[in-house]
Amino acid sequence: MKKIVVANWKMNPATGHEAIELYRSYFGSVNERVTTIVCPPFSFLSELALIADAPKDIALGAQDVFWEQNTGAYTGEISLAMLKDARVSAVIIGHSERRAYSGETDEMIAKKITATLASGLTPILCVGESADMRAKGIELAQEFVINQLDKDLPKEISASANLVIAYEPLWAIGTGTPDTPESATQMIDCIKQAIQKKRGASASVLYGGSIQKENASLFARESLIDGVLVGSASWKGDFPEIISAFS
Ligand code: PGA
Repeated sequence: MKKIVVANWKMNPATGHEAIELYRSYFGSVNERVTTIVCPPFSFLSELALIADAPKDIALGAQDVFWEQNTGAYTGEISLAMLKDARVSAVIIGHSERRAYSGETDEMIAKKITATLASGLTPILCVGESADMRAKGIELAQEFVINQLDKDLPKEISASANLVIAYEPLWAIGTGTPDTPESATQMIDCIKQAIQKKRGASASVLYGGSIQKENASLFARESLIDGVLVGSASWKGDFPEIISAFS
């Protein structure tokens, strides 16, 4: 299976001009051996979608979506129909920063995942435990993550659904200290087995949290890790080398 490399630009960069330059800086490394998905802020999506000479192996993703499909009285929200119109093919849902700063609950996340699966776009569900929880041992951390999956995923998932999970331990996000590839593999294996056992579905499972060009190849070597979700390194110049590490 092709590995997946996702750039989560979060609330960066400041202008459309910089967004185009950043997007273009990836073009030379994008190739058919890896699926590259770039998730900019909403306001840059349409502009990036219109770049005519973008390589065919780069796709656009969004950082969030609302659960109603089309249009409606939902101030500040973006629908799946609007994302499709902007040629978006994947959506990050339940990122820990949205859970922490925007009050996203598991119930809201579950509605977003169900709507996204129904629309045919690929949800990228983010899960992960806190530092406190991890300090109590990997078994408790696994229990917590499996519980998040139980709450955030629908009970039935078609075996043919495109589902991506990003395991992002909170203590590794933006800290410069990633999980080790061995321990991330252990958690990812546990996530894959839980989804297969409880829902008969399979998911691609990525690792996220302080991936940089220096450590990307260590994660790329692990066959159970299907790719990475990259935050700050994606707008600070490392992303082309990260794509190459997974190619
Ligand atoms: P980071 O962020 O790569 O800056 O640690 C990852 C994420 O939050 O998705």
